[in-house]
Amino acid sequence: MSRVKGKAVLVTGANRGIGRAFVEELLAAGASKVYAAARSPEKLAALVEGNEDRVIPVTLDVNNAEAIEALAADLKDVALLINNAGIARFVGLVSATSIQDARDEMETNYFAPLNLIRAFAPTLKENGGGAIVNISSVAGYVNFPVLGSYSASKAAVHSLTQGVRAELKAQGTHVVGVYPGPIDTDMAAAFPMDKTSPNVVAKEVLSAVEEGVEDVNPDPMAVDFHANYFSDPKALEKQIGEMLPQ
Ligand SMILES: NC(=O)c1ccc[n+]([C@@H]2O[C@H](COP(=O)([O-])OP(=O)(O)OC[C@H]3O[C@@H](n4cnc5c(N)ncnc54)[C@H](OP(=O)(O)O)[C@@H]3O)[C@@H](O)[C@H]2O)c1
Repeated sequence: MSRVKGKAVLVTGANRGIGRAFVEELLAAGASKVYAAARSPEKLAALVEGNEDRVIPVTLDVNNAEAIEALAADLKDVALLINNAGIARFVGLVSATSIQDARDEMETNYFAPLNLIRAFAPTLKENGGGAIVNISSVAGYVNFPVLGSYSASKAAVHSLTQGVRAELKAQGTHVVGVYPGPIDTDMAAAFPMDKTSPNVVAKEVLSAVEEGVEDVNPDPMAVDFHANYFSDPKALEKQIGEMLPQ
């Protein structure tokens, strides 16, 4: 049975970047309904236009735990949860002027997906198990010191993904972890390097959801990174550590 076609899906951070690409690719893949969540729903107007019957704009700041609870009480048909919303402050762990950046990244990138999973797990169960997608990063495997606190939050997402996968196996929920390299969105705008289209990422992830794949490395850098990490994690740590300006 399909986990995407004919299903209702909730996407966080749907107004731009990879989240927006998810909405587009979900429509192409035959999702029956996409709850496109954004903290400023007016930014979803272009996505909704022409798809009013299938794209439902939803207001959600993922750091608002009460709003998550209210949404879960309301959207009882969700069978796929895509935890996409994220922030990156591009600061080091020690060199950051305030620890607030690290706290903010942990709230948005780790605690928010955890809250969403806890709120929607019973609904996924009711709807046959369904699936969850969590967006980590190559920085979730190895710390990039120029993004030190962001990397720590994405490592937390990696661990969250493993734990939730084990806990929700019994209810038949398929849990996918995504580990992108540089993707062509606002978040990576400052990095002058080859970047993969967010629509390529979304398509690859939706195939993984359908096919029961657990870990997705959706771009060429991610594929190389994954191979290097599993062949020699210590060497990769040293290589990435040396990217820090001395
Ligand atoms: N781009 C990359 O190279 C890359 C690589 C690896 C992983 N990722 C991950 O991929 C995911 C999507 O990133 P992206 O590249 O598409 O970034 P982006 O272009 O900066 O978009 C981030 C999205 O998250 C939303 N968001 C942030 N904080 C939120 C909050 N508190 N509540 C609700 N929505 C919130 C933003 O909404 P607003 O418009 O309201 O700010 C926006 O829709 C993130 O988890 C990111 O860490 C990205």
